[in-house]
Amino acid sequence: MKNCKSFYTTYYILSVISLLIVSNAAILKAQNVPLVNITGRNTTSLDGDWQIIIDPYESGFYDYRHKESGNGFFRNEIQTDKTQLIEYKFTKEHVLKVPGDWNSQDPKLFYYEGTVWYKKDFKIKNILDKRLFIYFGAANYESIVYVNGTKVGTHIGGFTPFCFEITSLIKKGNNFVVVKVDNKRNMSGVPTIMTDWWNYGGLTRDVYVVEEPKTFIQDYFIQLKKNSFDQVEGFVKLNGTTSKQNVKIEIPGAKIEKTFETNASGYVNINIPVENLSLWSPGNPKLYKVFVSSGNDKIEDRIGFRTISTNGSNIILNGKSVFLRGISIHEENPLKGRRAYSIKDAEMLLGWAKELGCNFVRLAHYPHNENMIRTAEKMGLMVWEETPVYWTIDWKNKNTLANAENQLSEAIERDKNSASIIIWSMGNETPVSDARNKFLIALSKVARKTDGTRLISAAMEKHTNEGDPLTQIVQDPFADYVDVLAFNEYIGWYEGLPVKCSKVKWKINYEKPVIITEFGADALGGYHADKLTRFSEEYQEDLYKQQISMLKKIPQLRGMTPWILCDFRSPRRVLPYFEDGWNRKGLISNKGIKKKAFYVLQNYYKELKASSSLLK
Ligand code: GCU
Repeated sequence: MKNCKSFYTTYYILSVISLLIVSNAAILKAQNVPLVNITGRNTTSLDGDWQIIIDPYESGFYDYRHKESGNGFFRNEIQTDKTQLIEYKFTKEHVLKVPGDWNSQDPKLFYYEGTVWYKKDFKIKNILDKRLFIYFGAANYESIVYVNGTKVGTHIGGFTPFCFEITSLIKKGNNFVVVKVDNKRNMSGVPTIMTDWWNYGGLTRDVYVVEEPKTFIQDYFIQLKKNSFDQVEGFVKLNGTTSKQNVKIEIPGAKIEKTFETNASGYVNINIPVENLSLWSPGNPKLYKVFVSSGNDKIEDRIGFRTISTNGSNIILNGKSVFLRGISIHEENPLKGRRAYSIKDAEMLLGWAKELGCNFVRLAHYPHNENMIRTAEKMGLMVWEETPVYWTIDWKNKNTLANAENQLSEAIERDKNSASIIIWSMGNETPVSDARNKFLIALSKVARKTDGTRLISAAMEKHTNEGDPLTQIVQDPFADYVDVLAFNEYIGWYEGLPVKCSKVKWKINYEKPVIITEFGADALGGYHADKLTRFSEEYQEDLYKQQISMLKKIPQLRGMTPWILCDFRSPRRVLPYFEDGWNRKGLISNKGIKKKAFYVLQNYYKELKASSSLLK
């Protein structure tokens, strides 16, 4: 009998544990619900002060044997008596602002690479007939999210949004969320351990609680069909239905109102005949109000309609050839030395690009925050958006490829309705090898499958043959898979002096549009000397003059995004006085000084814009 009893006791305990694991796994499986157009939804901002615990040894997660201690998160422990041992506790004094990197908020965290635990209390007034989600604009680099003490999901990647359903965990009144953010670099990460930018950690973008009806509009894609001016195509995806539903799309400014019926899982492809649309372009950044409604859910967006394609070595915007007068930009406010995240940050950076005479920006080397994309769209700036497949990625690692594909998909999911984005970039300066080619080809297939309307590229490299340093060759196996041939070159900075530009010839045997995605030189703003003195404004100014004269001779040249709009922080730049932790290739210094080279590029773009041969 005893054996029998102990059998049932054991059985009961095991079944409880397995139930917990299943429910936990079920919650974990309920991972990432991408919500397009977050600012068009019913959200409560969780921005502001979050309590934090700096935890370099992840003591909130592992015990002294480095076993997961089951603590797994920091409970809101209330000390009931003085004999109680509590070692992890959030306090009102230790806080960080969200959104925001931790490096620029606390001198102790300037170089910090490790875990910080974040905690935020929040109230929900009414939970009846609602579904609730928690949405993060981004967190660098690996996050684990807990709501009211239960793990709801994890995310890897520092530059794309993630969102978890928390309906079953939320109580009326007081709730709390805890997030473990770890920005440690790792060899198989995306990016890997070596980057020429600051490894800003933390909840770097907005955080929201999102309220949705039981059945709601989760996702939609509404763009002109490739190479068409009279067909709007895409899809609408509902969440929470098991039967066919009606979905209505209205574009009042184009006198469009059309209803579609979804399949039983809430998905429908859409196709809407249109005529005489006012096409989005840098000269006419027209955005239409678009309403998507279904049942008792209705969402409003602003969408621009344009076409982008290539024809031989031309880039064709709305049927006309265009020259991309661009500049590269990191997601950093140089005056504050921190991650850029706000609309004001975006307006400052993109305002400088407009002042330079740009119609195009390369948002390097990772997806920037959505404010940058939406502001570029309003300002009439076309955008190159990049996945952080940067330099020496762990090409043969399947998990690394899955990570890169996921980050690319999340970027496309978020921005696929933005007229400003014309190019998805698969990476930057990756060394040619069979494994790398396979990796990039796989990525490009994900991009083409997810969004067939935009162009594909990558910032590749050029090379010279032994004994012939003046013949610059662009030849890359991945070039056969891109629409636009883009490459970086630093002739006159890393390779010889600026005068070398006048001596080289280019060998580019591709009948494709060419964009020079990087050239440049460092200059300490305000440091003046002769034009052969490195780090002087005069050296950088002469480099730009020599580069532009050289590049003009490339017959397929259809754009450039010189490196870079602003000085930016980099742990690799350690030369005292001249660098001091900053990469100085900016045309604008971290004190806001426009260097002499700024005006060289501005004049070139003014000439280009005046030349009638290319679309403005
Ligand atoms: C590379 C790289 C950039 C880097 C730049 C530089 O081309 O793409 O991320 O900052 O060179 O050396 O300044």
